Amino acid sequence: MVASLDDTKRNTIAVKLASIKALQKLVIENEQVLLREGLDAEIADRIRNFIKDDEKNLGVLETVITQYGIQAEPKKVVTEFIEKARELFKSSELSLYEKVSQHELLKHQLVMSGLIVHKAAQKVGADVMVAIAPLNTINFENRAHQEQLKGILEILGVRELTGQDADQGIWARVQDAMAAVSGVVGSAVTQSSDKKDLNIQDVIRLDHGKVNTLFTELLQSNNLQKIEEYFGQIYKDLTAHAEAEEEVVYPRVRSFYGQDNTQELYDEQADMKRRLDEIKSISPSAAEFKQKIKQLMDIVGDHIRQEESTMFTAIRNNLSTEQSEQLASEFKAAKTRIQQKLGVVSESKI
Ligand SMILES: [Fe+2]
Ligand SMILES: [Fe+2]
Repeated sequence: MVASLDDTKRNTIAVKLASIKALQKLVIENEQVLLREGLDAEIADRIRNFIKDDEKNLGVLETVITQYGIQAEPKKVVTEFIEKARELFKSSELSLYEKVSQHELLKHQLVMSGLIVHKAAQKVGADVMVAIAPLNTINFENRAHQEQLKGILEILGVRELTGQDADQGIWARVQDAMAAVSGVVGSAVTQSSDKKDLNIQDVIRLDHGKVNTLFTELLQSNNLQKIEEYFGQIYKDLTAHAEAEEEVVYPRVRSFYGQDNTQELYDEQADMKRRLDEIKSISPSAAEFKQKIKQLMDIVGDHIRQEESTMFTAIRNNLSTEQSEQLASEFKAAKTRIQQKLGVVSESKI
């Protein structure tokens, strides 16, 4: 059986994610342009904070795309739009008010795209939901930026029209609107300055969660085509995850996690790979297919528990926050490269 999983819906979401990433990059560029426009201190501070959030969110987006497992190119029309928007933003044709107004529209576009992907994922499958979950934080923050941009627009608009300052109390109103957006509980917005980049434990845990969900979905399904797709995704996800761990994580932890413990992880993964290839050669309609999947799921489960308990503890005790975040970047880069080698790149240029 050939691992084929790239069905149309999944590809379309991959293309949308690529478009979001391209727009997110444009947003950062535009904010850097705005900072050079001689802004009030309060406004400049807010834009600087946007840039901090947006750069962090670009990293989160890259994680989401790697997690999702299908790399794609943005739609051609999006790339062309970005090209034009970039030129216009740098030109002197637009007033400062008009630039901020365009920027707010871009944020709106990002929020809507993020929301649509989230809704679409609910239709496609639980594993997709797991992969794109961090997108919600980005949506929250972009919504909060939108509220602040509205405040900035009010100040700049009144000034451009009358040469005078707008009423006091704008920022208090903006603050209220942001609180309404963030909701009572998950105050993703107000805590944004404390938020850290993902560390290696976070990134590995995301992968583990996703593969677990895929196993559960596969075992629950009676649709042969779906089963084949799920297995295809498990095959590619597990292979990329394991190879990236062997390339980046295991060599790094060996000295403090111990020679024997680390070797055990390598051996378990070799066993996992053998089983994956064995299952690949069995028809999903054969009675033993799900039985073999169940065995693999148990073995993967034990392996995951070991990594998340003792290996994570060793990492926490021996690596600094910065080192752990750095390792996460290296892990993501390795995984993206391996995914590309495995042919997970979407051909779709729709
Ligand atoms: Fe592993
Ligand atoms: Fe792992």
